[in-house]
Amino acid sequence: MADGLKGVILAGGSGTRLHPLTRITNKHLLPIYDRPMVSYTIEALVLAGVTDLMLVTGGTHAGEFLRLLGNGREFGISRLEYGYQENPGGIAEALGLAEHFVGGDRMVVMLADNVLERSFAPSVEHFCEQEKGARVLLARETDPEHLRHLGVPELDGSDRIVRIVEKPQDPPSDLVVTGVYFYDSDVFEVISKLEPSKRGELEITDVNNWYVDQGVMEYDLIEGFWGDAGESIDAYYAVNDFVRKNGVNK
Ligand code: DAU
Repeated sequence: MADGLKGVILAGGSGTRLHPLTRITNKHLLPIYDRPMVSYTIEALVLAGVTDLMLVTGGTHAGEFLRLLGNGREFGISRLEYGYQENPGGIAEALGLAEHFVGGDRMVVMLADNVLERSFAPSVEHFCEQEKGARVLLARETDPEHLRHLGVPELDGSDRIVRIVEKPQDPPSDLVVTGVYFYDSDVFEVISKLEPSKRGELEITDVNNWYVDQGVMEYDLIEGFWGDAGESIDAYYAVNDFVRKNGVNK
């Protein structure tokens, strides 16, 4: 079902919320239980049948990814390309570096600090059935403090997303937009027209809101554990604890 769907793994950024750990390595190489963080992203994509992959990273430890992953065969990857982001200019900027790799195909994009208990293979199927547009995975989150650090969707009476607010002071729902995104190839045109946000980044939430405005944004509400291990040092340990106790990517 994932035929022709490319996978883009975003593992750049500065990892400032995990300083000083990330002064000496890339955040996505830090251990989650018994493996480097990025391994879980790769496992999730391969499990969902997405094996044609590009990994975008940056900073001073980019070479370590090659050392860990090589050509990817050991991980079930059929093709692995690498991209280098000169400066941490935002998630959407990092995705823009995958334009040549993706070409006119569709893609699933995964942030390499996201860890999911359950496979998103069903969402791959839903996206393949979707005529065009984008799809996000939402997770329920009742702690408002968490919501304030993430992207939060507002839904209308028919449960359609009407907008997504990045790091809202006043969260419009108890849902978060996780770091797994599905896009058609229009995304690169959208990225090329983005303006940097107040924090100087090209925001993935602006990309997602473009699809919302076009009326072609769909979503799946995921079940099971979801964690952003880069959100804070406490979130990093919460993800570690969960993975160690329960395992993920099931
Ligand atoms: O984890 C889900 C959240 O991820 C979403 O709810 C938010 O809407 C989305 O903006 C994002 O928020 P974060 O604050 O967690 O984004 P962060 O800056 O930590 O970047 C997440 C990943 O994206 C990071 O692990 C690597 C990649 N990245 C990030 C930046 C800023 C890059 O590859 N390059 C970059 O320049």
